[in-house]
Amino acid sequence: MTYFLTTPIYYVNAEPHLGHAYTTIAADVLARHMRQRAEEVFFLTGTDEHGEPVAQAAEREGVTPQELVDRNAPKFRDLVGRVNATVDFFIRTSDDQHKKAVQEVLQRVHDSGHVYAGHYEGYYCPRCADFKTDAELIDGNKCPIHLIVLEREVEDNWFFRLSEFQEPLERWYGDHPEWVLPDFRYNEALSFIKQGLQDVSLSRVRISWGVKVPWEPSQVFYVWFDALLNYYTALTYAPGASVEKFWPPNVQLLAKDILKFHAVIWPALLMAADLSLPKQLYIHGYLLMDEHKMSKSLGNVIDPFQIIEKFGADALRFYLMREVSFGQDGNVSTEGFENRYTTELANEYGNLASRTLAMIDRYRDGQVAPPSAPLPLAESFDGITEDVCGRLDRIDITGALDAVWQRIRALNAFVAAEEPWQLAKDEANADHLDAVLYTLAEGLRVVSLLLHPWIPDASAKLLTALGEERRGMPAFGDWQGGHVSKIAPLFPRIEA
Ligand code: MSP
Repeated sequence: MTYFLTTPIYYVNAEPHLGHAYTTIAADVLARHMRQRAEEVFFLTGTDEHGEPVAQAAEREGVTPQELVDRNAPKFRDLVGRVNATVDFFIRTSDDQHKKAVQEVLQRVHDSGHVYAGHYEGYYCPRCADFKTDAELIDGNKCPIHLIVLEREVEDNWFFRLSEFQEPLERWYGDHPEWVLPDFRYNEALSFIKQGLQDVSLSRVRISWGVKVPWEPSQVFYVWFDALLNYYTALTYAPGASVEKFWPPNVQLLAKDILKFHAVIWPALLMAADLSLPKQLYIHGYLLMDEHKMSKSLGNVIDPFQIIEKFGADALRFYLMREVSFGQDGNVSTEGFENRYTTELANEYGNLASRTLAMIDRYRDGQVAPPSAPLPLAESFDGITEDVCGRLDRIDITGALDAVWQRIRALNAFVAAEEPWQLAKDEANADHLDAVLYTLAEGLRVVSLLLHPWIPDASAKLLTALGEERRGMPAFGDWQGGHVSKIAPLFPRIEA
């Protein structure tokens, strides 16, 4: 089966930060896991390069918008590699093929009567790239998010008949109760729709950095229409992809800041273009620092490149998915990061691995084989693979990781209770020691296969040391054992 997965495409007018890394990492956990389940995955991310903020930033810096995006897009592409995300295609909305496909789709929407020439008058926030109703403004005419004074814009442009889709959207939501997850986001989107939908501007007159409206080339499409369509246009030209094969997306990840665009405008646009809708949107929360959203405008951002430099991509991936319950907002901090790195990655997992392999080396010359008696811990490991799969099917990324971590804790408790170094002192315990060592190694094999999506590098090192070459879904007790080798610490201690 195919599994098409997307992240939002990120604005290129600022530096990539931890918030961008967050969604890409979460998506990569799903992509890697689904590949382990032999799904044919297509994982898409990229950059959103049109719109006013880019044009304005370019003007400030005295370069053309194209120069600016050509300079910044590689930083986002680089981030993908640095967080070790296995992206299949990185789309840039300045790609000619994207622009051409946007024009084709929107021409079709126009030709089927969903577009009309209208008059726009109202407030627009260039930073949000969003039109604001009078009720949304604060202190007279400020953007409630960016707190900047907005100008009243008056222009004649093209409109998309969003209001026509009120009923079809309500019906769609009614028929697909899991279309938006978590459920409180579904309710939020549906109540927004029920409040009544107004038509929205489809094009802009005053800016020229964008995709030209084919039936009126003096205008460009409003950046959100151009941007949303990336999820579709990518399949028309990405190597190895096709619309026939992968459309519609199985899961689209995004944060709550762009819920309205994805849960209201996007499905209406697809209906208007006669394209099928994504199977599921998953809306995650914000990474916060001291309770504030991490964002470029607030300047409270953690640089993911620095963390990766010092601790490696695995540690960052693990921390973000573990610390903040996926779907909720949550605080992150350097202290919190170092804590989890030391107690969980270095001690609970890394140390357990080093000790186990060292003991098998010392007491059994590296050889381990399944005992004939029933396995200790069989009960504790029972159902773990099904549990992880079920949770990731529901995008419960933090819950799935915790389910695995509970087994790591069980293994640590087991080694503490059995004290294999004591058993090794008396030959009469030989069979029991064999069973204990096999159980530890088998437990490590199972958790490492399941942990692959979160910590691909460290889990691969351990699996290699265990001589396990397969990467599919494991069952506890299936391993035939064999020769294992010692390993260097998977997560070395960090000097202050
Ligand atoms: N370009 C639009 C999206 C177009 S999609 C068709 C955009 N870009 S953005 O650069 O602002 O990225 C927003 C996305 O980045 C969020 O939806 C989320 O995926 C991620 N995040 C940015 N900051 C974040 C946090 N502080 N916390 C969690 N996610 C964050 O909106």
